[in-house]
Amino acid sequence: MSKMEVKTSLLDNMIGVGDMVLLEPLAEESFLENLKKRFDHNEIYTYIGSVVISMNPYRSLPIYSPEKVEEYRNRNFYELSPHIFALADEAYRSLRDQDKDQCILITGESGAGKTEASKLVMSYVAAVCGKGAEVNQVKEQLLQSNPVLEAFGNAKTMRNDNSSRFGKYMDIEFDFKGDPLGGVISNYLLEKSRVVKQPRGERNFHIFYQLLSGAPDDMLKKLNLERDFSKYNYLSLDSATVNGVDDAANFRTVRNAMQIVGFMDDETQSVLEVVSAVLKLGNIEFKPESRVNGLDESRVKDKNELKEICELIGIEQAVLERAFSFRTVEAKQEKVSTTLNVAQAYYARDALAKNLYSRLFSWLVNRINESIKAQTKTRKKVMGVLDIYGFEIFENGDNSFEQFIINYCNEKLQQIFIELTLREEQEEYIREGIEWTHIDYFNNAIICDLIENNTNGILAMLDEECLRPGTVSDETFLEKLNQICAGHEHFESRMSKNSKFLNDHTLPHNCFRIQHYAGKVLYRVEGFVDKNNDLLYRDLSQAMWKASHSLVKSLFPDGNPTKINLKRPPTAGFQFKASVATLMKNLLTKNPNYIRCIKPNDKKATHIFTDSLVCHQVRYLGLMENVRVRRAGYAFRQTYEPCLERYKMLCKQTWPHWRGPAREGVEVLLKDLQIPREEYSYGRSKIFIRNPRTLFHLEDQRKQRLQDLATLIQKIYRGWKCRTRFLLMKRSQVTVAAWYRRYAQQKKYQRIKSSAIVVQSYIRGWKARRELKRLKEEARRKHAVAVIWAYWLGLKVRRDYRKFFRANAGKKIYEFTIQRIMQKYFLELKNKMPSMSPIDKTWPARPYLFLEATHTELRRIFHLWRCKKYRDQFTEQKKAIYDEKLEASEMFKDKKALYPSSVGQPFQGDYLEISKNPKYQKLSTLVEEKIILADIVNKINRANGKGAPRIFLLTKNSFLLADQKSGQIKSSVPLSDLTSASMSAQTDGFFAVRVKEGTPAAAKGDFLLSSDRLIEIVTKLYRTCLSSTKEKINIEISDEFLVQFKQDKVCVKFVQGSPKNGSVAACKRKNNRLLEVAVPSP
Ligand SMILES: Nc1ncnc2c1ncn2[C@@H]1O[C@H](COP(=O)(O)OP(=O)(O)OP(=O)(O)O)[C@@H](O)[C@H]1O
Ligand SMILES: [Mg+2]
Repeated sequence: MSKMEVKTSLLDNMIGVGDMVLLEPLAEESFLENLKKRFDHNEIYTYIGSVVISMNPYRSLPIYSPEKVEEYRNRNFYELSPHIFALADEAYRSLRDQDKDQCILITGESGAGKTEASKLVMSYVAAVCGKGAEVNQVKEQLLQSNPVLEAFGNAKTMRNDNSSRFGKYMDIEFDFKGDPLGGVISNYLLEKSRVVKQPRGERNFHIFYQLLSGAPDDMLKKLNLERDFSKYNYLSLDSATVNGVDDAANFRTVRNAMQIVGFMDDETQSVLEVVSAVLKLGNIEFKPESRVNGLDESRVKDKNELKEICELIGIEQAVLERAFSFRTVEAKQEKVSTTLNVAQAYYARDALAKNLYSRLFSWLVNRINESIKAQTKTRKKVMGVLDIYGFEIFENGDNSFEQFIINYCNEKLQQIFIELTLREEQEEYIREGIEWTHIDYFNNAIICDLIENNTNGILAMLDEECLRPGTVSDETFLEKLNQICAGHEHFESRMSKNSKFLNDHTLPHNCFRIQHYAGKVLYRVEGFVDKNNDLLYRDLSQAMWKASHSLVKSLFPDGNPTKINLKRPPTAGFQFKASVATLMKNLLTKNPNYIRCIKPNDKKATHIFTDSLVCHQVRYLGLMENVRVRRAGYAFRQTYEPCLERYKMLCKQTWPHWRGPAREGVEVLLKDLQIPREEYSYGRSKIFIRNPRTLFHLEDQRKQRLQDLATLIQKIYRGWKCRTRFLLMKRSQVTVAAWYRRYAQQKKYQRIKSSAIVVQSYIRGWKARRELKRLKEEARRKHAVAVIWAYWLGLKVRRDYRKFFRANAGKKIYEFTIQRIMQKYFLELKNKMPSMSPIDKTWPARPYLFLEATHTELRRIFHLWRCKKYRDQFTEQKKAIYDEKLEASEMFKDKKALYPSSVGQPFQGDYLEISKNPKYQKLSTLVEEKIILADIVNKINRANGKGAPRIFLLTKNSFLLADQKSGQIKSSVPLSDLTSASMSAQTDGFFAVRVKEGTPAAAKGDFLLSSDRLIEIVTKLYRTCLSSTKEKINIEISDEFLVQFKQDKVCVKFVQGSPKNGSVAACKRKNNRLLEVAVPSP
């Protein structure tokens, strides 16, 4: 639901009552009570029907923000709490949508907030009306006209720091869309007396102070001014500065505003020049000068000031000076010049200053109008804003011509207010078809008549008095009043014939009293005539007209001598009456909207509510009257729709919806509520309620019902909320569960699927592999069959056809040739066979290289065969000899140099043939055993190394040494006692036979022998020992060995050299221990 659709009412959250029409009971006390209550709660606005009462809060409240503007925009008047924006909105919308010209009448006493209210209305309208560059410029100009007019027309007074000293009416013009086009400002009665004199505690118009404090030095110099306020007689000094007002800053604001409004720089300059001239006029002083005729004549005291003024506004000094000294009276072509005395000169000076300033002000208003006037000629819609002084009553009876004029204006405004309000009321009744009942109210037309009647009205009489020839004074004027108005019921005077006031001491003799609609006002008659005349000596206006300063000249068209008008200028009262009449005529064509401003206290203080002061204002603003008029018929009215909307909950038939027309709904509702029939009336579109009490009764019931409904709504809402929450949670749970189940099933399915796929794939794989294997095997078999078949076929074919191929011939020839070569080779080899001797190394040459291996192999086989043949011839005996030879070879080959020479010698063994030789018969008998070896050896003498021949005998069990000659056995050693045999590696035949220690043979020691047949002897000794003792004796081949001789060990050392006895080795004893054998070098 948008904000606009929220149905609220003024009746919601009211503090007191928002609309005084609803006040119950209606009395002055309750009225004030209500205002105070609301004021205390910062509710400064209260309605009387459509009239807004505005209390001055004397502080800025946060109720004018752009958000507030939005809040009140396009809302019905009674929808929100009372606000000036509601009124402005109502007026603007009625203007825009219903094409009704509007006027907003703002009244109230000085300081009550009229000017502020008018600005609020303007700013609200500016905020809500159309936008765009052009429109914004117009708006800006309209808004900026305020600071300019305030600077020139406002002043600090006792009652208001920014008091408007003129009445202002501004028409804002709009096009059909509601966009602003421009405006027209009218001003009323500027309080010009203020220019020359200000009451105590008050100031002159703001502009003087702003100029002096805000203008830059060079500007002041140009204007011949000094910054010091005290230098100027026209500026009162006791309140030259105002708290919280920065004149210098305001001066800049004003100049800026003038620029925005459209003042040219030279225009602004001219205006300021006139202002300075006015200011300086006050400084002109006069002194008396006695004349011959005894009369006093005035003279300007200090001509310097006069000179400066004349320079400023471009007047010849003499002309002005003369104008201050003489007065020319013209009557019927006759010119009479009289001199002025000092008092008259001062009067003339002040009159000039006042006139100059007030004409400047009017010029400013016109100039602004020129800038802001609408540019189009098309029909415009108009909203007029009237910011005019309210009723003014000085309690001390100091009321003068100005107050009289002002109060007259207010009287007129009250009249049109009554007229319009009643007319509107009446029109509404007619429109709504409600019977018109007469409303009793006070009509102030009679008072207006007292003042403005053309023949015997007070103003007319004042004019008459002013124009009358002869001596005229205020007193004569009062007398006249007493004569003519004495019978008027609203006129009171001490001098009147009406004896009633003769003894009224509250009414002084020089005063008269008028019973205005708002109360009695006592006017002091003094100054009435003069002020009404508002005379400016013609000499002065003519002097001004002569100025070269174009602005000053234009301000005094009446000074033009060619257009001399002998008729007196219209009096101030007459002018005012005329302008008020125009204003009233203007206002009567428009739809009025009222803002009644009230000041809560005299101290410009926040939060203070002075009952008496407010009561006074309520009275003279005629607010009670206002309420009464408004309530005369029916206090409250409202169109049917909102009324039904607001109270429909009070009746079963209308709640919650009424389907029929709203009027019938309201009828049902009111009947149901049993409201007395005389309390209301049905209009065409509105219900009229006579008494506020009825309305409050309805409101109370509504409030009660709303509470019940709120509880109900709360209950239903809570239930609904819980239920929706529950349903939501349930739905969510179902959704979650569904999703989870789906997820779980998906997972499971996926698992099963993938397992199935795995199993499937394995099975398929297995099947496929098996099939593949089978197929491969089949293929292989087929292939094999094919191959075999092909081979077999090939073979068969080749076999069948081989013989037909030449290629086979080559092989055959080759084989044949080989066979032939082999045949030839073998036949040739047979013929060339070497001898059968195993040592024959000859072998026929190899005939062909390819037979190399065969040839070598044949040679080897042949040699083996030949050796076998050779070996097969051997007898046992010969075999034994070769065995021996083989043994010798193993022992000595490549070890002893003597060995090679022994190879060719057959081992005979018994060289001595002992048994046959008679020489050794004896010896033979001693040796019973078979002799294996018998030979002659040399036994080496251990003492000198010389050898002695001995017979060496070897038997199966022992060896013996016997004397060669005698055959006598010298030593016999069993073979088992032998340990080793030692010999050199040389060609010599020396060798030692060692005996085991501890045996009988060992006593004699080892044997050192020498024989050419060393190889045979040692071989046989070794073999015999082995076969008889089964033990091997050591064979030691070394060139140095030890021999045991009895107890001594002797070293036998073999050296190479040439022994003395040629090629035979010789042994020589070197010392006890060494036996050296010299061996011939090979
Ligand atoms: N709505 C408001 N909010 C805040 N301050 C206000 C309001 N209305 C008035 N005032 C204060 O009161 C002062 C006087 O108001 P304003 O000048 O409007 O009075 P006025 O009725 O125009 O008086 P005068 O008749 O002397 O011109 C303002 O300067 C301002 O300080
Ligand atoms: Mg004002």
